[in-house]
Formats: sequence, C-alpha cells, structure tokens
Amino acid sequence: MDPRLQLALLVLASLLACATATVIHGRHGRSSRSTYIVHVRPPPNFSTDMSSTNLETWYRSLLPPLVSTSRSDTPFIHTYREAILGFAVNLTKDEAEYVTKRHGVLTVYEDYLIPLLTTHTPEFLGLRSNEGAWSSIGMGEGIIIGVLDTGIDVSHSSFDDEGMKPPPAKWRGSCNFGDVNCNKKLIGGRSLLGGQFPPEDRVGHGTHTASTAAGRSVEGASVLGSGNGTAAGMAPHAHLAMYQVCNRFGCYASDIIAGMDAAIADGVDILSISLGGKSVPFHEDAIAIGTFSAMRKGIFVSCSAGNSGPLSSTVENEAPWVLTVGASTIDRKMEAIVKLGDGRSFVGESAYQPSNLDSLPLVHEFGSEEVKGKVVACDLDGSRTQLQLGETVHDAGGAGMIVLGKEEGGHNTLAAAHMLPASYVNAIDAAVIRQYIKNSDKPTASIVFNGTSLGNTPSPVVAYFSSRGPSTQTPGILKPDIIGPGVNVIAAWPVKVGPRAEGEKNMAFNTLSGTSMSAPHLSGIAAIIKSAHPDWSPAAIKSAIMTTAYVLDDNKKPILDEKLNPAGHFIIGAGHVNSSQAINPGLIYDTEEEQYIPYLCGLGYTESEVEIITNHKGACGEGRKISEAELNYPSIAVAASTGKLVVNRTVTNVGDEISSYSVDIEMPKEVTASVSPRKLEFTKANEKKTFTVSLTWDATGTKHAEGSLRWVSDKHVVRSPIVIF
Ligand SMILES: *[C@@H]1O[C@H](CO)[C@@H](O)[C@H](O)[C@H]1NC(C)=O
Ligand SMILES: *[C@@H]1O[C@H](CO)[C@@H](O)[C@H](O)[C@H]1NC(C)=O
Ligand SMILES: *[C@@H]1O[C@H](CO)[C@@H](O)[C@H](O)[C@H]1NC(C)=O
Ligand SMILES: *[C@@H]1O[C@H](CO)[C@@H](O)[C@H](O)[C@H]1NC(C)=O
Ligand SMILES: *[C@@H]1O[C@H](CO)[C@@H](O)[C@H](O)[C@H]1NC(C)=O
Ligand SMILES: *[C@@H]1O[C@H](CO)[C@@H](O)[C@H](O)[C@H]1NC(C)=O
Repeated sequence: MDPRLQLALLVLASLLACATATVIHGRHGRSSRSTYIVHVRPPPNFSTDMSSTNLETWYRSLLPPLVSTSRSDTPFIHTYREAILGFAVNLTKDEAEYVTKRHGVLTVYEDYLIPLLTTHTPEFLGLRSNEGAWSSIGMGEGIIIGVLDTGIDVSHSSFDDEGMKPPPAKWRGSCNFGDVNCNKKLIGGRSLLGGQFPPEDRVGHGTHTASTAAGRSVEGASVLGSGNGTAAGMAPHAHLAMYQVCNRFGCYASDIIAGMDAAIADGVDILSISLGGKSVPFHEDAIAIGTFSAMRKGIFVSCSAGNSGPLSSTVENEAPWVLTVGASTIDRKMEAIVKLGDGRSFVGESAYQPSNLDSLPLVHEFGSEEVKGKVVACDLDGSRTQLQLGETVHDAGGAGMIVLGKEEGGHNTLAAAHMLPASYVNAIDAAVIRQYIKNSDKPTASIVFNGTSLGNTPSPVVAYFSSRGPSTQTPGILKPDIIGPGVNVIAAWPVKVGPRAEGEKNMAFNTLSGTSMSAPHLSGIAAIIKSAHPDWSPAAIKSAIMTTAYVLDDNKKPILDEKLNPAGHFIIGAGHVNSSQAINPGLIYDTEEEQYIPYLCGLGYTESEVEIITNHKGACGEGRKISEAELNYPSIAVAASTGKLVVNRTVTNVGDEISSYSVDIEMPKEVTASVSPRKLEFTKANEKKTFTVSLTWDATGTKHAEGSLRWVSDKHVVRSPIVIF
C-alpha cells in the first residue's frame, strides 16, 4: 500500500473514533458498528466454480455504498461460500437495516458468542481409557478430521507423523503455523480469528480435543508420579486439520461459519465441534446451518450435546443431520481418600497425587476463620472452578482442600491436578462431611492418595452435566444420539500443569471433563468407520454408531445416571458407543439428504426459513411435508398425546449379502406394538427393505414409555430405541 494513503487512512480512522465518541451513548448506539452475519441468495449467474472475486463483487453490491467503498482493502470480516452464501461485516444498526431490505438478502443477524463446552479444567498426565479396539479394525487411515476449536500445540508429540501416510490427494487446505511446518498427521491449520496469526493454542482445549480424536500413540506418558501409560486418540492414523475459531472467552458465530467454510472447501471428511450455546431455532443457529452444508458434501459432523444437565430439555446441537454426543464416566478413578477424625472415610478423586496429608484441623470455607495449615472444605458455588478454589486455598496458606461435590452432581467425582493435596468427594459424601464439621468441636481430616484404580463399577455412568432430551427444537427426534467418555478424559495439553508447571512446554497431558471431551471420541470413531466404508453417507455412519450402542453397564443393568437411577433414552440416546461393533452394524438406516427439507417444512419452518437453512427455494409446496417420525432415523421418539404411531422405516444391508433378520420389539405392556413384516431376507449387498412399525397406547393414561426395536441375525443386533413421552 502507498505509505501516504496508509497515513491518510490512519488519520481518518482516529478522526472517526473521535466523532463516534461524541455521538454514541452506549455500545448499541445507532452509529456504533458491530458485527453482522448476512445470508444471501446466490447471484443470478451463480455456478459452483464462480470466482471468489465475482462472488465478492456480488456481496459488495448488497452493502451500503459508503461501507462498500470506504474501508481499506475489504469491508468484510469473512466472506463465505461453502457453509453458507454470505459474509460477516461490521455495520451500524441503520446500515444493517439497509442490507436486510436488499433484494437477494435472506437474513441479517448480529454476531453472538458461543461457549466452549468444558466444565472443568483439572490437570493430569498419564493413562487414558483404552476404548477403541482399533488394532483389528483400522485406525482411520486416509481420513481427515477437521477440528473447530482454540488452536493446537503443533509441537506436541501427540501430533508427530511417524508411520503416517501423506494426506489424500483431495486435500486442499493450507498450513499457517509460521515457522513450523505441518506434517502428515497435522496436515493443516489456520486461524479464523482475524489477523494473520498461526493457530497456536493458548487455551489448551483444542489441543485436547484434537488429540482425543486422532492423536498418535505416545508411550510412557506420565506426570507427577501417577498414571503412567500410553496416550492415544481414537483414530491414531487419521489426519488432523485445526480451524481456530475460539479463544478463551468462547467462539463467535461469524468465525465458526468461517471455520466450517474453510473445512468444507479444504476437503475434510469429519468435523469435530466441541462448542455450543443455547438451543435456538435452526434458521438462527450458525452451527445447524453450516453443518447442513457440510452434511450435503458428505462430511460427518460430531457435536457436543451441551453441559446443561441434569435438567431435562437442555440438549444443544440437536439438528438431525449431526451426531449429538452426551458424556459418561469411565471405569478409572484417581483415588484421593478423605479420612475424618471420627474414623469415617470417603473415596474422592484428585489427579495430582502428592505425599499423604496427615490429620489436620478441618474448616468449612473461609470467612473469619484462619485457614493457614488447615484442611479447607470448599463448596463449588459456580463462580470458580475447583482448580481456582485450590489456588485460592493454597495462596491463603491452606494445607489441603476437600472439594464438596454439588448436590446435582450426585455420585460423580471430577479429578484435577491441584496445587495442594486435595480430593473431590461426591455430593452424598459432601453432605456427611458438612454435617461432621457442623457437629464436631474439633473436626479434623486427612487425605490419603491411593493411586489410580481401574475397573470401578458401575461403569459407564452418565455425567451429571451431560445435557438431556427431549430436544427443544425437534422433540420428535430422540436427542442426544449417543453417549461417550467425557469425564476425567486425559489427552494432550500445550503446557505442563500442576505444582511443577512453570510454563514448561513438553509433552504435557491434562484431564478435562465435559461434552467437549466426548464429541471428539465420536469424531475419531466416525473416522475409523469412514476409513473402512468410504462410500457411507454421514447418516449411515451415524446409524452404525447408534444401532450398535450398548445400553447395559458392566453389571448388566441399564446404564445409570449420576444419581444411580436408570438413565433412560433421553439421557443416553441410543446408548454408549461401542467402537468395535460400530464398524460392522449389519444394517443401516440411511437418510437421503432431500428428506431433511420436507422434514423442516413439517416442523413448521416457513419457506424462507427453510431457504436460510438449506438454500432451497420454494421447498414446502403441497404434499411436501413429512413428520419428524417419518425421517428415516435410527431411533423413534413420539409425543404420548398422539396415542398412536404408524411409520415406515427402510434399512440397507451392509453385512453379508445373504442374510436374514427377524424382529424383536420390546415395549411396556401399556403399549401395543407390531412390526410388519417380521422377517427381512436379504440376497444382495446394499439391498433395501422397508417395514412398518405400529404402536398404540392410551393417549391420556400413558405419560412415558420406553422400549426398543431390534433386528436380529446370527451375527448382528441392530437396535433402535423407542420413546413415547
Ligand atoms: C467489528 O466490530 C467488532 C464489535 O462487534 C469489533 O470488536 C471489531 O474490532 C470490528 N472489526 C473491524 C474489522 O472493524
Ligand atoms: C455475475 O454477476 C456478478 C454480480 O451481478 C457480476 O459482478 C459478475 O461479473 C458476473 N459474472 C459473470 C461471470 O458473469
Ligand atoms: C512408564 O512405563 C514405561 C513402560 O511401560 C517405563 O519404561 C517408564 O519408566 C515408566 N515411567 C514412569 C515415570 O513410571
Ligand atoms: C486403595 O487401593 C487399594 C489397591 O488398589 C485397594 O485395594 C483399596 O481398596 C483402596 N482403598 C480404598 C479406601 O479405597
Ligand atoms: C462391544 O462390541 C464387542 C464386539 O462385538 C462385544 O464383544 C462387546 O461385548 C461389546 N461391548 C459391550 C459393553 O456391549
Ligand atoms: C408404508 O409403506 C407401505 C408399503 O410401501 C405403504 O403402502 C404405506 O402407505 C406406507 N405407510 C406409511 C405410513 O407411510
């Protein structure tokens, strides 16, 4: 740029700043600019190979003349062409109104912040659960997982490429790590946060989720004396591409769309999305809209269900074209046993295991009491994480800390690598400890570290924070779809943590909990399936994962929730993912992408709302609506008030060419259920068969009933949950 011009612009900018300062009262004054996302129709002469220059000319033509010409090189923050057609631009309210009225503009809305879905950020290094039995079924070879997150620690040994093949020829992505090159594992990375910065991870979340999905095996991963073992992602031979769309405060919708736009253009196979806000209608939901385009391009999308449990109707990212993933515990515990002065003891958890803490005076919280040299029992009030509480107690001279699990957490315990001896006890034990402190003249406690134990039972148990159904936006689709490991998940971290942290950057690992952690497990499993079955649609992969899920825990009892009550399908979805079975489901429920349009019309979206989501004009004509139940989904959910459901489903044979399935439908007595035909005989690969499910019940008497529909052959059980609610 001509230096004189640049100077002129700088002067102009500062003048503008002065001018706005005198005019504006408050952030939303009519002349202050904020970021807007604009969805547009294709230009009249649009073709998919239209040049970006021509597309940008079209976008510019929709802006107020002053905005279009007055900014330096481009008025746009982002321009989009894959996830949506449209752009992000800073506008005043008046300018936004002008754009809204332009011919060719579908919708204009203000940008919004979406949080990351980690609830707890303790620190740990060591073993991770050995969930995927990938040795026999492939490790995701040739598959590219795109991760939308906070960036990645490019130098972490989890992203070494030893033994990796080069990326497939279709890969068109770029590598923007500055001086550091990408490799055959981490094949791409870019920041969509504005500016030309490398997508370095300053938060840790993205490094953790990426390595959970597809980190390579790292042997001898150990820290702070505990948890020595091999750390590995679910698909250790899959390639990774990082799209940095979040910082520590969250992720703007405009950047998320930009990340999806880039990932689709680059040619990823799987998108891993560990973020989400509140549930909003699909035509106002950047993730729902962008993932629709991704699904159309054959990209499988795994999304967090949200961390708003245990309340019901809290599930997020609930569009039927994505896999919605809830979180459960694994069978591993990092035992930190709390012993009270009266001899009672409780098994809590801590990831940092220093030498044992002798019996010391025990106090409840701060307040007037001196905490120096004492053990402090702390309530989690929601304003601070347990790690921050630990730091506070440590800085105040406390000798140890007992984290009192919240009532709503039930039997869940969450480990953390604290700065001091600590233990997180569950809500039931927390209540006993509170009582003891209240009733005892001289309460004392000690904490004994007891190492890492495996094989804890019952397992899995649903995490209290895992968001639950029924879905707000689409109650007739059972959500979440599935649960996977999301409590105390150990994966890569950019810096060493815990008392010996000192910002050292070296093969660090950390343990985090959240549906942010369960979603990338499913991204990795999807990569394994896609690698084995490259021609399967996203819906087919989802069906394989759901119909092979298990619903019984290690005691052969229905999977329990955090209160140790049977969880039910609005909490576990189809069940807990079984990665080794998902690769070979026998039958799949495929969904043609065209089916989603009449489904959206049937849900009550207007023509123009459906156009915003799908870019299809005039989609909801006569006879072009279907009910939610008619979507060929691998699960069934229906309102109890209807009293009956008759619906067809179609399965595709992906097992042996010649195979025979018979039906087994299990519902409580108050529901009359039948399936016709009761046997399906296949003679060819990919042969499709349609059957009819009929259910009737007392519309006023029955409030809630759950059961299942299973197609059983000598090799496969293809299970669909049924919920009447
Ligand atoms: C656009 O507006 C946002 C506030 O919404 C501001 O933070 C940002 O700096 C602006 N960007 C540009 C390029 O003007
Ligand atoms: C297509 O339309 C846009 C906007 O009207 C125009 O700027 C562009 O030159 C056209 N491109 C072609 C290839 O005709
Ligand atoms: C971890 O285990 C490996 C063998 O699996 C061993 O070589 C290594 O010394 C162990 N490290 C620690 C810190 O215990
Ligand atoms: C401590 O660990 C040992 C060995 O894993 C186990 O047998 C014991 O039950 C544990 N102690 C408690 C109080 O859980
Ligand atoms: C998962 O699938 C494997 C392979 O079919 C099976 O042996 C195993 O029992 C399943 N796991 C559970 C917990 O159901
Ligand atoms: C189900 O399929 C059968 C046979 O193809 C058809 O006759 C029937 O109308 C369909 N029923 C529904 C509810 O779509």
